[in-house]
Amino acid sequence: MRIPFVDLKQQYREIKTELQQAIEGVLEGGMFVGGETVEWFEEEFAEYCGVRFAVGAGSGTEALHLALLACGVGNGHEVITVPHTFIATAEAITLTGAKPVFVDIDPQTYTIDAAQIEDAITERTKAIIPVHLYGQPAYMEPMLALAERNKLLVIEDAAQAHGAVYKGKKVGGFGAAGCFSFYPTKNLGAYGDGGAVVTDDEEIAQRVMMLRDHGSKQKYRHDIEGLTSRLDTLQAAILRVKLRHVDRWNQQRRDRASLYDALLEDAEGVVCPTVREGCAHVYHLYVIRTTERDRLREHLRRVGILTGIHYPIPLHLQPAYGYLGIAEGAYPVTEQIAKEILSLPMYPELSREDLEAVAREIKGFVA
Ligand SMILES: Cc1ncc(COP(=O)(O)O)c(C=O)c1O
Repeated sequence: MRIPFVDLKQQYREIKTELQQAIEGVLEGGMFVGGETVEWFEEEFAEYCGVRFAVGAGSGTEALHLALLACGVGNGHEVITVPHTFIATAEAITLTGAKPVFVDIDPQTYTIDAAQIEDAITERTKAIIPVHLYGQPAYMEPMLALAERNKLLVIEDAAQAHGAVYKGKKVGGFGAAGCFSFYPTKNLGAYGDGGAVVTDDEEIAQRVMMLRDHGSKQKYRHDIEGLTSRLDTLQAAILRVKLRHVDRWNQQRRDRASLYDALLEDAEGVVCPTVREGCAHVYHLYVIRTTERDRLREHLRRVGILTGIHYPIPLHLQPAYGYLGIAEGAYPVTEQIAKEILSLPMYPELSREDLEAVAREIKGFVA
């Protein structure tokens, strides 16, 4: 048996003709950075997210970095986020010169514990970055109200949550800006790096547009300093094709998640994901918890089932953040779940037989 953690080849085969036409169009057109293909994708992605603007970027990390810069975050500021996320969320903060301040997560949904945000606010706090982790929307209402009361910006890290819905509205459109990654394995993935900032605020969109291209609106005139962080034309062409399929793929992910839920319901000591009420989770990852995580993972590996851990070391305990001087024990929920979480194979094309085999092996192991 060999069940991969993700398989991008099946998806490629399914839409090969559409992709080849789109790629050929770019190659024939001879425009590889910018151009109308990027603009078309930006318009279509904005419409998909239900916002006025989308601005392509070089990666999800850069989308966060550019959004923070465009919102005026920089030296001397603090930005609140979670220690249970991919390092990019915090890196984007430090790239601006600001300092990440962590708040623990909620043990049911693994997203920011909104009740703990207030205590982390200081006079230097400028923004909050909730992470819609694994494809599950973070708890937005109390955070948005708190942000408004304290004049803080909310910048959503939606890198894992394309198409996820919170109470009738897609994530990315709640805060001042929403940031997406198009890393190949994401729910909407390019064939290389890519990202986007989405926003309803024209000024933020304009600033991101300038910052991603050396602070320039007009060639060789630089109103501000920026950087190179654009979405490649080829990636935009690929993403335009894939955007037409993403809702169906998200539904396929949800169907597979429901099947895992049903099959693992009676697996002793295994906790399946909880979906926040009124939300549509898009299962970028299907993450279970068990105190037997490491032994279970090894068992699955031995029988040919590949899994992941997202993420094994909380950010405050990473060597890179040693300078923050945060001791173990500071964020107990994050620290506990980092020892227990296991991401099971999850992708839209995962077959029923493979999924049943994964569940069978887990149940056999824990029994
Ligand atoms: C939660 C989160 N934020 C940010 C990023 C950064 O995206 P990218 O890899 O496109 O830079 C990722 C990507 O893995 C992510 O999972």
